[in-house]
Amino acid sequence: MCSIIGIVTNNHAQVAPKLVKSLSRMEYRGYDSVGLATITNTGISVKKGVGKVSQVNGYLNLASMEGFVGIGHTRWATHGGVTDHNAHPHSCCTNDIAVVHNGIIENYQSLKQELTKTGHTFRSETDTEVIAHLLEQFYHNTGSIKKAMMETVSRIQGSFAFVAMFMDNTLACARLDEPLVIGIADGACYASSDVLGFLEYTDQAIFLDNRDIAIIDSTNGIDIFNFEGEKVVRNPTKVAWELADANKGKFAHYTIKEIFEQRETIRSSVTAQDAFSLKRFCDLLLDARKVIITGSGTSYHTSLIASMVGSRYLKKHFEPVMASEFRYNIDSIDSDTTLVAISQSGETADVLNAVKLAKNAGAKILSIVNVPSSSLARIADVSLCTNCGPEIGVAATKSFTGQLALVYATIDRASGGKIGFDAAAASDAVARVLQNSLKVEALVKDKMARVNDIYLLGRSLHFPIALEGALKMKELAYIHAEGMPAGELKHGPLALMDKNVYVFVLNPSDKTYTDTLGSVHEVKARGAKIIGISDVSSDLYDAMIKIPKMDSDILYPLLEVIPLQIFSYHLALQNNVDPDFPRNLAKSVTVR
Ligand code: AGP
Repeated sequence: MCSIIGIVTNNHAQVAPKLVKSLSRMEYRGYDSVGLATITNTGISVKKGVGKVSQVNGYLNLASMEGFVGIGHTRWATHGGVTDHNAHPHSCCTNDIAVVHNGIIENYQSLKQELTKTGHTFRSETDTEVIAHLLEQFYHNTGSIKKAMMETVSRIQGSFAFVAMFMDNTLACARLDEPLVIGIADGACYASSDVLGFLEYTDQAIFLDNRDIAIIDSTNGIDIFNFEGEKVVRNPTKVAWELADANKGKFAHYTIKEIFEQRETIRSSVTAQDAFSLKRFCDLLLDARKVIITGSGTSYHTSLIASMVGSRYLKKHFEPVMASEFRYNIDSIDSDTTLVAISQSGETADVLNAVKLAKNAGAKILSIVNVPSSSLARIADVSLCTNCGPEIGVAATKSFTGQLALVYATIDRASGGKIGFDAAAASDAVARVLQNSLKVEALVKDKMARVNDIYLLGRSLHFPIALEGALKMKELAYIHAEGMPAGELKHGPLALMDKNVYVFVLNPSDKTYTDTLGSVHEVKARGAKIIGISDVSSDLYDAMIKIPKMDSDILYPLLEVIPLQIFSYHLALQNNVDPDFPRNLAKSVTVR
């Protein structure tokens, strides 16, 4: 969602250019408006406006702001419209404290009323502004930043990570259920939503825990304590990601770069596992009476496949539950339950909430994440990392196949090798499917100029891929797309089929093949244009993307999703959509 960044230097380097760069790197998190505040000789200077980082920097010249200490923000609006006033940073009445915030302050209305009565004037409609005024009140009463921070966090309810800047060149930050990480470099300290905010300058990071407050100043360094004021020790760790992983390289967009990276990431998601964690993960799957798998969006699609594969090979019931629906379905969770939570970011609020509810009911928590330092990784009993490197494109691509590969590897191991999953062979097959990229591009150009409705059909393991393909087409290309079990056509959706409709059919030669071909006949008879994704050709297909024949049906989802990702990417370009930053969406959805 929003990104926050704060920088304190002790070498008199100007921070504004770095703040702008950091925000650009984290822009994928949310991006309707942007702002900076720096400390100057005459007070706190604030510049903010609506647009992307490059646009706002262009018209406000953010990078030229003076100052050695500063904060910055990219906003994805929740409370208050997308306006210059609502953009962060927000300042207190006396303009000597400025704040950037990610999260939601649930009790902001009552706090705003209370603060207004005591003489505070609000300049925005945001929930965030109450933090600036609370800090002002407590700081001016006590003269202590530490006390002001403790009092402020004791009054606000909801989820937050915020950085406050004080006129004495100090930054103070706090977190509860939103990510916040401190980067430590020679001559500067960073407080950021994401390591990408400072990876260019340092790989040394302190990941703050929930209920941590940190005060950073150029002379005393970093002081960390909890909301009760007790000192806590958080040691720096080395960030595993390389900066090069966060660049586009030779590709036009992150999305297509990340699609192509799947040649390697399927392998790396499996091979880099720590043996102890892998064993514990498998034991907790095997020991459970009931396994529930949860996730959101693409990660939920992984949960669907994981549940089918887990039930098949471990001979116990695996239940997939959408994370946003989890809280309504918790009655049967107990200490014999294992919850597997799957998330690229490890920060999705719905997933974290599901985990909390399951934990309270006594369940064991396993997680599969791509961000090893994420909140989800830290609250799980055992966490495995998909090791895909940073995924910047808003649409999940390499993290999805990384999740699938890791699910297969763990179930394979837990079942005593019944799957015989070979990640290297799967990677090689994916590399072969990627060779269809130019063919997909040509099909989009030649045959899909005016497509409004796309349906995707599949049965069994291929149904979640139909859902995933539809999600990619919606979010990347803004095209109405629906994934459905092919067998359900005759129960209603067949009424939608006509010559204007495109139907993608996921139909490799496994046990679903003949039945799905029957469904293809049904849509063909209604005039729909059919694009087959299969290892077997058929005259019924108007176009076809051939995938290799695989020994096991569980490998097909890894292959089928690749052309669907590439179709979505090229449809996005055709519709003039920036595939990396689709409208209204954020990579990491940290609100419920
Ligand atoms: C996928 O393309 C989406 N952008 C979105 O559905 C995403 O998968 C979902 O928000 C879950 O994110 P997570 O994996 O980081 O938890």
